[in-house]
Amino acid sequence: MLAQLEQRFPTDRLSRTSLRGLLRRGHASVRVCEQDNVLAGNAVVLYRRGSAIARLYSLVVHPDYLRRGIGRMLLAAAEAASVDHGCRELRLEVRPDNLPAIQLYRKAGYVVTDKIGKFYEDGTDALRMSKRLGPVTGAPAGRSRRQRPAPAAPGATA
Ligand SMILES: CC(C)(COP(=O)(O)OP(=O)(O)OC[C@H]1O[C@@H](n2cnc3c(N)ncnc32)[C@H](O)[C@@H]1OP(=O)(O)O)[C@@H](O)C(=O)NCCC(=O)NCCS
Repeated sequence: MLAQLEQRFPTDRLSRTSLRGLLRRGHASVRVCEQDNVLAGNAVVLYRRGSAIARLYSLVVHPDYLRRGIGRMLLAAAEAASVDHGCRELRLEVRPDNLPAIQLYRKAGYVVTDKIGKFYEDGTDALRMSKRLGPVTGAPAGRSRRQRPAPAAPGATA
């Protein structure tokens, strides 16, 4: 499972080694969704010491498992992890042409707060989106046990 997860970690700006270090020091949380022994998706949240703003670094759903509500569920789990970590806001950056992701975030209550020029390595701009976080009220009803996102590994969550 961890090997599958690592394959799906983004490596462009944050190496796996760095992410492991962040997890060990409590500066990151990982939430995963497993379906049929397959890693169907994961979400990575980063924290900064002394900041109440968490950053959704990555949210990825396996191509075979799209449009089943996993992205929405992982986003909710990332928000819950941020609240557990004492954060009041979750921010993220997204490519302006990534309509599935933008639609997902908008539906979950995120608003565009900024446009960042040349954010990505290929020179593309990013939209920054943000959501104020309230108290967590528990997991959504009606989810099967296997669909519930879980920490990536012992000690992986902050
Ligand atoms: C964005 C992503 C995480 C969505 O995951 P998902 O599990 O397919 O999303 P969900 O099934 O939970 O969909 C939730 C909502 O998102 C929106 N959405 C998701 N995919 C969409 C698509 N292809 N077109 C339009 N809207 C879409 C819809 O509003 C959907 O609600 P609905 O099903 O009630 O219409 C997934 O497409 C993905 O991994 N993309 C590649 C990685 C990526 O771009 N990550 C975001 C980086 S910022």
